[in-house]
Amino acid sequence: MSFITDIVSQSVHEAQVSDIKEMAIRSAKIPGAVSLSWGLPSFQTPDYIRKGVKACLDSDLDAGKYTLPDGLLELRQQVVKTHLQKTGIKIDADKHVMVSAGNMQALNTIFHTMLDPGDEIILTDPCFASHIQQIVLFNGIPVYWPLDEDNGWQLDIEKLPQLISKKTQAIVLVSPSNPTGKIFSKEELMKVGEIAKQHNILIIIDDPYSDFLYENSEQYFNLASAEAFKDHLVYMYSFSKSYAMSGWRLSYMVMPEELKHEAMKVHDATMICAPSVSQLAGMIALSQESNHKQMFQGVLSSRRNLIEQRLNNVPHVFDCQKPQGAYYVFPKIVAEHKNSKQFALDLLNNVKVAVTPGSAFGPCGEHHVRMAYCVDEDTINLAFERIEKYFK
Ligand SMILES: Cc1ncc(COP(=O)(O)O)c(C=O)c1O
Repeated sequence: MSFITDIVSQSVHEAQVSDIKEMAIRSAKIPGAVSLSWGLPSFQTPDYIRKGVKACLDSDLDAGKYTLPDGLLELRQQVVKTHLQKTGIKIDADKHVMVSAGNMQALNTIFHTMLDPGDEIILTDPCFASHIQQIVLFNGIPVYWPLDEDNGWQLDIEKLPQLISKKTQAIVLVSPSNPTGKIFSKEELMKVGEIAKQHNILIIIDDPYSDFLYENSEQYFNLASAEAFKDHLVYMYSFSKSYAMSGWRLSYMVMPEELKHEAMKVHDATMICAPSVSQLAGMIALSQESNHKQMFQGVLSSRRNLIEQRLNNVPHVFDCQKPQGAYYVFPKIVAEHKNSKQFALDLLNNVKVAVTPGSAFGPCGEHHVRMAYCVDEDTINLAFERIEKYFK
């Protein structure tokens, strides 16, 4: 055993690079591989944001300096307006808003603020792979809330109360879901809110995908718009996908005043502030009119139809439910296989197609794969030509 093995902490030994990134890294090393593994959209940051930032850099020589830890006041004030429009809830820029470097960093800050060793966080199963790893890194315990595919992956409210213990700190929700694309209903979400409030548990809404809804868009409900749960809820909005700004690393959080006060200690000690240039981009993104989201949504909608059609052509390999939002499909593997990881590795090694094994998203994800259809149509078609040939 090397000394490095010795000095690495127990929690880091237990954590893993998520299979989403592992498959992306493996496929990048295989010439000619096509990847449906990583949810990295083909879109580019809209022109009005790029041009706006350039103008800011030209006119403001201080643009490259640290900002206040919780973010530029102008951006937080803009978030107050945006949040009011989106949810109808009035918040205060100083008391409730914190700007962070993407929802991943926002989650990290909140988990760090909350978790003592052995504390529990409830995650839907399947859930986003990195939520599991983040909790493990803080010596917390992910508690899985199993969802049933035969029930369309909806929230199973009856099972929730029995998962709550004295150690439960929070429930994390992503709607539309990564990896299933499910939009959780208002009724289910309100019940989660009531249960959380009754047990004094925090609800964490991780929201990268609410701008990507299709024909069921009227079913979408943002639990952050329920006044009743304002004191029990952290809402995290990511700029990564809606504004094609994944590399800028920007998000904002809206949270109860007391929690912000505590979370500021973590945020200040670990990152000082979100990158200032990205905050300028965020201000431009939120404050100017643009129709790029409709454009993204339209393109994703066609890609969703394409991937559904291609999946339906291989019923001996996959069985798939049509996703309602975001840009992932989560088909069940019906072809003979050992487990989803081995299936994904075989697909990559034999026909150079990268998908993410469903086991990365929790125990209920086993025997599934996640495919991201945010890539262009040629990539989707090429991946399926190879899959069809392989499973002929
Ligand atoms: C559910 C979920 N949360 C967070 C993230 C990462 O968001 P950000 O780029 O804002 O860190 C992703 C990205 O795929 C995601 O799917």
